[in-house]
Amino acid sequence: VMGALLVLLLAYLFGSIPAGVLVARTYGVDIRKVGSGNIGATNVLRALGPGPALVVAFFDVFKGGIAVLIARASGLEDWLLGGVALAAILGHNYSLFLGFKGGKGVATSFGTLLFLDPVLALWTFPIGVSVMLITRYVSAGSLAGGVAAFVLSLALSRPPWEVATVFLMAALIFWTHRENLKRLQKGTERRLGERVEVRD
Ligand code: G3P
Repeated sequence: VMGALLVLLLAYLFGSIPAGVLVARTYGVDIRKVGSGNIGATNVLRALGPGPALVVAFFDVFKGGIAVLIARASGLEDWLLGGVALAAILGHNYSLFLGFKGGKGVATSFGTLLFLDPVLALWTFPIGVSVMLITRYVSAGSLAGGVAAFVLSLALSRPPWEVATVFLMAALIFWTHRENLKRLQKGTERRLGERVEVRD
């Protein structure tokens, strides 16, 4: 029990590391004050371009992946791996280092999924990316990815703990995208490739 709690706490702490805030700060930018105000790679792309965005995406995926890897290495039961994945995502969304505010959890969810269920992750990815490229809304791709992962977990007859985990991941993505959903409805969502002005 102690071991499981420790790994859950570690996952939450890893998830909490706000790569977007840290990377943008090295450019003298407070990422929370530009564009959508989100700390994720999408907003870093708008504010600072593809290089920094790639670094942020990589780190946010990585921290989810490493959390699940550590959980596996410590021999936790399968269903607890799902808990660890969610702990990392909650760390990203409600970061200890940002007064329990944070990002939308898409990259970190993907990172955990890569190590929870690589086959499912690698089917989900092109679906999300396709929707993103067709609509030119990253948020639409993220939401579609969440739905796709859940549908795939059922279609591939995954165990109940995994279906439940992926369902909660998707539900969290919808919850964190509630402002995006409003903007999509109103037609005011920012398109992929739109830049925003930053001054430092
Ligand atoms: O992963 C977040 C993305 O789906 C939306 O980001 O900055 O447009 O709210 P943003």
